[in-house]
Amino acid sequence: MDQELNGAMRSVSINSNGLAATPHLNGHSKDEPDNVRRTAASGGALSASASAAASASVSKATNASTAAAAARAIPAAASSASTATEATSLSGLAGASEAEKKKMVYELCQQLLLTDEQVQELCYRILHEIRRGLAKDTHPKANVKCFVTYVQDLPNGNERGKFLALDLGGTNFRVLLIHLQENNDFQMESRIYAIPQHIMTGSGTQLFDHIAECLSNFMAEHNVYAERLPLGFTFSFPLRQLGLTRGLLETWTKGFNCAGVVNEDVVQLLKDAIARRGDVQIDVCAILNDTTGTLMSCAWKNHNCKIGLIVGTGSNACYVERVEEAELFDVEGNRKPHVLINTEWGAFGDNGALDFVRTEFDQDIDSHSINPGKQTFEKMISGMYMGELVRLVLVKMTHAGILFKGQDSEVLNTRGLFFTKYVSEIEADEPGTFTNCRLVLEELGLTNATDGDCANVRYICECVSKRAAHLVSAGIATLINKMDEPFVTVGVDGSVYRFHPKFHNLMVEKITKLIKPGITFDLMLSEDGSGRGAALVAAVACREDILNSK
Ligand code: GLC
Repeated sequence: MDQELNGAMRSVSINSNGLAATPHLNGHSKDEPDNVRRTAASGGALSASASAAASASVSKATNASTAAAAARAIPAAASSASTATEATSLSGLAGASEAEKKKMVYELCQQLLLTDEQVQELCYRILHEIRRGLAKDTHPKANVKCFVTYVQDLPNGNERGKFLALDLGGTNFRVLLIHLQENNDFQMESRIYAIPQHIMTGSGTQLFDHIAECLSNFMAEHNVYAERLPLGFTFSFPLRQLGLTRGLLETWTKGFNCAGVVNEDVVQLLKDAIARRGDVQIDVCAILNDTTGTLMSCAWKNHNCKIGLIVGTGSNACYVERVEEAELFDVEGNRKPHVLINTEWGAFGDNGALDFVRTEFDQDIDSHSINPGKQTFEKMISGMYMGELVRLVLVKMTHAGILFKGQDSEVLNTRGLFFTKYVSEIEADEPGTFTNCRLVLEELGLTNATDGDCANVRYICECVSKRAAHLVSAGIATLINKMDEPFVTVGVDGSVYRFHPKFHNLMVEKITKLIKPGITFDLMLSEDGSGRGAALVAAVACREDILNSK
């Protein structure tokens, strides 16, 4: 690991014809919740009768009070102390037939599924929150901030030149050199650097010094050390932008918590760190969110792309809005009709708007996170939490004697060790086969699983990922309906979307049901939005026609 802390982890070169796929490390590894606190979860034993009563009374929570009642009926597994021995003594349930166990799993999981009515209600609520974020008088208290990005022009394919890009926002940090060429051609070289845990939660100065050091090393390795290149900075956190090159961090998300950065201008912090080194020179031309990069990257080839979506470590979306709606955008003399809005929808529900669908598992995730009470929507969707949600359900069922004959394992009981990539792997098994599932269970130290156990584990994964896909769909359908254009392409990136075998189809199916008649849409996988998108935002900012129109 030490090697990873200081040095470059992986270097990748791609061009528009070559390796199109984003250079993720080992599938989902960018998303693994390294930063979920790894304390041993204490299991909770349900007594046989309590469990039976609980599964019988788990009905779909339709409002906050019934949700609370359902949560009360099932004592939270992870909150009451117990040991493996206690759990295995639940011979009553461990001895239940496979069919009975299947039924119990099915019933307990119903709280994780959203009815059509609930999804529709979510669309209304998301729209309401978006409007609150956009309007001047409600913005200060809004959860979904809808920050103005100051990006008003989409790429037209005429962007050219050599750009540097920084991509900070997941577990790793990347530096890229992108050469935009004729005919939508581009060349890109990139290198991934680890952000060690102590830097993610250390001081802002340490973080930006680390970034500047990686940038300097990268420039030296790529023979551009002495050049002064334009740079786009993909900074994937909630940023209150004051211009294309100025933005104050609103709050950290996704496991980052560096002191002294909130309310500071992040571009200035980067420039200061580069100046402290004094060895390289750059021109920061744009700071942007990864959703903006994703949208721009897709819009370069597809002019219908009007929404950028990330379902990765975190979840968020940006979209093209009319300037009249963006009340906080008051650039004098601005005559352009549209501006990109970074919704920061991950914070939807922080005021209780999601309580009618939240479960005991969501509450558990939240209370053990480093930002309790924040990013409620994101915690129900994204890769940083999805595996942990599944683990919590598995722990509960195991300790109730419903899974694995009540036998748990240390790994199963440890927070953060059921990786989100496991969900994709388990769901990728052909129906009726459990090859990946068994491999995952072995990694968890669960070697005695029956086929029935495997089928139940798979069902739990399906419920958690399906709910995430439906939540994202509610958000996207709301944006599509709000924009009210006849055809919209949604540019999408993020490892959950990229690697989960059914996420795309689940989304297409749900969004189709939710959008107004007459509107059509498609979902387009973005090719490295955070990297190429950053170069494009920088390139558009210095495109000749745009400079001339200013
Ligand atoms: C978090 C960040 C947001 C980012 C998203 C996806 O929600 O706050 O800015 O876009 O993660 O990376």
